[in-house]
Amino acid sequence: MAEKILVTGGAGYIGSHTSVVLQEAGYEVLIIDNLSNARAEVIDRIAEITGKKPDFTQLDLCNSEDLHAFFDRHPDIAGAIHFAAHKSVNESSRFPLKYYHNNLAGTINLLQAMERANCHNLVFSSSCTVYGQPDQLPVSEEAPLKKAFSPYGNTKRMCEEIIRDQAEANSLQAIALRYFNPIGAHESARIGELPLGVPNNLVPYLTQTAAGKRESLKVFGQDYSTHDGTGIRDYIHVTDLAEAHLKAIKRLLKKENKASAEVFNLGTGTGYSVMDIIRTFEKVTGVRVKHEITDRRAGDIEKVWADPGKANQELGWKARFGLDDMLRSAWKWEQSLKE
Ligand code: WQD
Repeated sequence: MAEKILVTGGAGYIGSHTSVVLQEAGYEVLIIDNLSNARAEVIDRIAEITGKKPDFTQLDLCNSEDLHAFFDRHPDIAGAIHFAAHKSVNESSRFPLKYYHNNLAGTINLLQAMERANCHNLVFSSSCTVYGQPDQLPVSEEAPLKKAFSPYGNTKRMCEEIIRDQAEANSLQAIALRYFNPIGAHESARIGELPLGVPNNLVPYLTQTAAGKRESLKVFGQDYSTHDGTGIRDYIHVTDLAEAHLKAIKRLLKKENKASAEVFNLGTGTGYSVMDIIRTFEKVTGVRVKHEITDRRAGDIEKVWADPGKANQELGWKARFGLDDMLRSAWKWEQSLKE
């Protein structure tokens, strides 16, 4: 009998790619999603890729009654991977309470429902934003956490602390995965980043500009102390990220974790600037990207890239895809949206 894994937010960008990898590894995937930032058709797309339709329940984690009823219907869930959260950095600065309520209450409800159902394995979707602007690079898990530049980033740090406290006090075994910058799409181009509205993030805005949906890409600042003055990030293929979640949930299921609450950075260890991304995209696709230099975006850090050594050694996971592949898959996905 295949082990059941709950994926909250599984109709979303990283959640859907992780659901594909879990199914392909032989797990039975149960997705709950409130569809506030995803479409139900993603469930069918996952089925197209893997040949098996995940069990899907439209449910809001902030409704603890519905959540308890869900666990009552599924008493044998072996572990959960928790993606469901609001994730727009600048929206969180405009509506902090919406973010604190949804992201914190949702996580607390999930933890309470898991304890009630004797489900003790949790992988949590966190973010490198908890480091703020690190004092030294590359940034390892031992780096001090800083007050994030946004309520969104703060909710990630707070959820990690809530999960750690619960793990120390009860039977929860947890792993927090701190993503750097996820980009790209599944090789089939059947799932990818579905930006609803104007994209905040660089790569979807770039591919929409290349596709003629946007007039011009704004490069937020060219006066940072980097090789070309533009911001540097550690971009990671979403499929690499999905595979790291498989490694993490397996580590918990096999009780190989060395502490009740572990943390891993998920990055490639290489940083690229905004101009590097634009130039590489143009090289890989042959499509020019109209862009203009504008002022810095408030709240942006200057540069960050990961020390992925702990995940490489402990999880036995290493990013496989290079920047060319990431951007090629992002472009293939963008072109599929025109169809
Ligand atoms: C990347 C670089 C911008 C848009 C955030 C969150 C992080 C994660 C990913 C959720 C920066 C520049 C961007 C544009 C630009 N979110 N840029 N023009 O801000 O590093 O990370 O999104 O999980 O937690 O913090 O990502 O893609 O917005 O920016 O020049 O139109 O691209 O200044 O240097 P960011 P991003």
